[in-house]
Amino acid sequence: VRDQLLIAIDGPGGSGKSTVARGLAARLGLAHLDTGAMYRAVTLLVLEAGFELFEGEKAADLARQMDLELGATVFLNGRDVTAAIRSPEVDQAVSEVAAHPAVRAELVARQRAWARKHHGGVVEGRDIGTVVFPEADLKVYLTADPLERARRRKAERTGAGGPAPSGAELSRRDQIDSNRAVSPLKAAPDAIVVDSTAMSIEDVIEEVLSHL
Ligand code: DC
Repeated sequence: VRDQLLIAIDGPGGSGKSTVARGLAARLGLAHLDTGAMYRAVTLLVLEAGFELFEGEKAADLARQMDLELGATVFLNGRDVTAAIRSPEVDQAVSEVAAHPAVRAELVARQRAWARKHHGGVVEGRDIGTVVFPEADLKVYLTADPLERARRRKAERTGAGGPAPSGAELSRRDQIDSNRAVSPLKAAPDAIVVDSTAMSIEDVIEEVLSHL
């Protein structure tokens, strides 16, 4: 299936997953996949279509039909949605859309195809080590305390010029992500758990590399 490393990084929002995943990929010369961006893209389509968030089959149809190109710029059905998938509306709705099994089935299939095509990579999300790639070479579960996570989200969004979710909103989403029936957020039994609260990005990357 692959001839290179596959590293799975899971954890709640604001734990530093994206920054760490990108840094690791650059250091190791691997491709990087942000699976949260995929759930966000489907959510944007659901909102634009005016579907209700509980309409899982309709959301899954949109997922199956979408043409999604991830990178520094994100193209969805030919349109630049880099900013739109980080909007407060998508933030608010994405946990509900991501809870539908049919949506997950489609996106997980795409994630596995991506890893085959790239011969491995650094893949970040919520269920990467537990469900998508249980055979990953290295699984990392990244955490940070809730106040620090809210602070990071805010810094991230301020840089991008948009409003950030509050600590309460982040907790609400963590609750949904951690308690859904299908592929809830949790650490794989064989994941290394890194609490990044008091660590720099470089420290976290070094810590992860030390386990390779
Ligand atoms: O990492 P993020 O904030 O961009 O993720 C957006 C949402 O997608 C979040 O509510 C959890 C969900 N998600 C998921 O269910 N499974 C993944 N592998 C990645 C994200």
